[in-house]
Amino acid sequence: MAIQQQIKNLREQIQHHNRLYYLGDNPEIPDSEYDRLFQQLQSLESQNPELITPDSPTQRVGGEALKAFDQVQHELPMLSLDNGFSNDEITAFEKRINERLELSDRLEFTAEPKLDGLAISLVYDRGLLTQAATRGDGSTGENVTANIRTIKSIPLRLFGTNWPQKLEVRGEVFMPKKAFSQLNERMQQQGHKAFVNPRNAAAGSLRQLDSKITATRSLDFYAYGVGVVLGWEIPKYHFAQLQYLNAEWGIPVSEEVKVVTGVEGCLQYYNEVLQKRDSLPYEIDGVVYKVNSIEQQQKLGFVSRAPRWAIAHKFPAEEELTKIIEVDFQVGRTGTLTPVARLKPVFVGGVTVSNATLHNMDEIERKDIRIGDTVIIRRAGDVIPQVVKVVANRRQGNEKIIKLPEHCPVCGSAVVREEGDASARCEGGLFCEAQRIEAIKHFASRRAMDIDGLGEKLITQLVENKLINSIDDLFRLSKQQLSELERMAEKSAENLLVALENSKKTTLSKFIYSLGIREVGEATAVSLANAFGSLEALMNADREVLEKVSDVGPIVAEHILQFFQEEHNRNVIQNLREEGIRWEDIDLTHLENLPLQGQTFVLTGKMEELTRDEAKQKLIALGAKVASSVSAKTTAVIAGAKAGSKKTKAKKLGVEILTEQQLQELLGKFEA
Ligand code: IVH
Repeated sequence: MAIQQQIKNLREQIQHHNRLYYLGDNPEIPDSEYDRLFQQLQSLESQNPELITPDSPTQRVGGEALKAFDQVQHELPMLSLDNGFSNDEITAFEKRINERLELSDRLEFTAEPKLDGLAISLVYDRGLLTQAATRGDGSTGENVTANIRTIKSIPLRLFGTNWPQKLEVRGEVFMPKKAFSQLNERMQQQGHKAFVNPRNAAAGSLRQLDSKITATRSLDFYAYGVGVVLGWEIPKYHFAQLQYLNAEWGIPVSEEVKVVTGVEGCLQYYNEVLQKRDSLPYEIDGVVYKVNSIEQQQKLGFVSRAPRWAIAHKFPAEEELTKIIEVDFQVGRTGTLTPVARLKPVFVGGVTVSNATLHNMDEIERKDIRIGDTVIIRRAGDVIPQVVKVVANRRQGNEKIIKLPEHCPVCGSAVVREEGDASARCEGGLFCEAQRIEAIKHFASRRAMDIDGLGEKLITQLVENKLINSIDDLFRLSKQQLSELERMAEKSAENLLVALENSKKTTLSKFIYSLGIREVGEATAVSLANAFGSLEALMNADREVLEKVSDVGPIVAEHILQFFQEEHNRNVIQNLREEGIRWEDIDLTHLENLPLQGQTFVLTGKMEELTRDEAKQKLIALGAKVASSVSAKTTAVIAGAKAGSKKTKAKKLGVEILTEQQLQELLGKFEA
């Protein structure tokens, strides 16, 4: 294809995706694919500069102002950032700057998280928020003042005093991860379409014509710079500007913002933030480095759409495009059939992915997923890969509808899907080999009996060779039997026998969890152990008593009752005890006497001496509960440094607030 034609095609594609991204809040392709198109265009244009036109997407920022809102002219254009994807690109960025500034010293940068939301300009007129606008195309944005006013963390009047005559704060509006998943749950319950990611949810929420809707959407904001300023002697360093905005006037700034030196400092920051990426409460797609000195920034200036003094260092994409080749159904421990998409292998979130769970038939129907579809795959952190959505306009017409099998693919028993139940189940019970294998896997797993070295492959081998049928058979295996297995040396056989022996001493809650009773996870197992103290008491409990346990409702109670009514299960338990599985029963009289029994604490903010987890363990050991949200029933909130909304809520509800020091005093009273 002629270069001109290639350039034209790329421009059209990019414009199409720009429109979906900025105006529709509903992109078709993941950012990674968009970035590739954009880079292709950039490189073709740099090789053929005579073909660059002023309306090329590389020459402008991106969005267009929506017609529904009043338009706002930005006095200073709102620019975009250049992207770097590798360490080499960041090294080249530093080198370019050093050369331009003729510097030999190490450059100082402010390093910031690259928040995945949308850019907003806030104008404060003598301390009062008078206008908020989206970036739009960089020079014209939409007036979204009424909607921005609903964001609780944005001050409507600046804190403190000495307000500038005019102050334009620029930053990112975003939706925290938790608010995003809650919103999507709500949307789905109400039969609406879910948002693809928090950024689209944030954009969709901000572009509501009715700000009452925006107000229900838990948006948040972090500032990353200033625009037009009148009557303020601006600090001469970018970092100092952000600090001032935050400390003096109460503008939110991310706690992750830091000053670093040279490219080494930048790359170290990148790695630190990448490590934290999944535990941050909001989504980021990289970090941004900005030359810290404003004087140096001014010397460097801009090129077309981005400053020369800043660059975004992007993280590996968590979303990629690929194709569904086939869909299989896996049978789980309790017989649930889970559809799994077999994918054309794709590199996403740092690993090559070839399978993605499709959860259940409802999910398949809701997302209209078919075999042969091109889909967006998401893999974030250690979470199993998910199909985000189908790229509908890549359909060829020969995609196949996914059907629930009538018979279990493993044992051939009937598959049932009860009315109102999203999941389908194999009726085979422990007759089904898949369910047997899964039950044994669960029993041996780390959080259950923790049998070292007994993994999926070995279990499958043991079951297929008919050496074990149920969990108690494990403890009757001989060294002879084990060594005869394929790929099993004598030493490994010995090790496994030792591991089996070691696993016999356990705790009541681990044992209850390891039985694999439906809906009884680790937390419920702990509640049951603490409520009954012994396995006998649990086995003899009736429905009424079971339902009194926290975490246990009618459904869980029913599963527990059914499990212990089953003769086979009672025999297995009896056999396990005879083989020497043991634990110490829990002395309930002692539990009732714990000093903080019945009290609930919430931990928030940064602690100095204890980690939050240590504080939590200490409180639990004294009988207290540790909850994640504040209510009128909360006994006290322990607020560390920079505590935010939880502390505010505690104040509002009149809940006692303790410092870390006071917590230590409280703990000290009871510690022997
Ligand atoms: S600075 C002149 N800093 O990324 C520099 N932008 O790709 C303008 N973004 O439009 C932007 N976090 O919406 C900057 N710490 C950060 C950012 C950030 C997210 C967004 C912003 C911008 C886009 C450019």
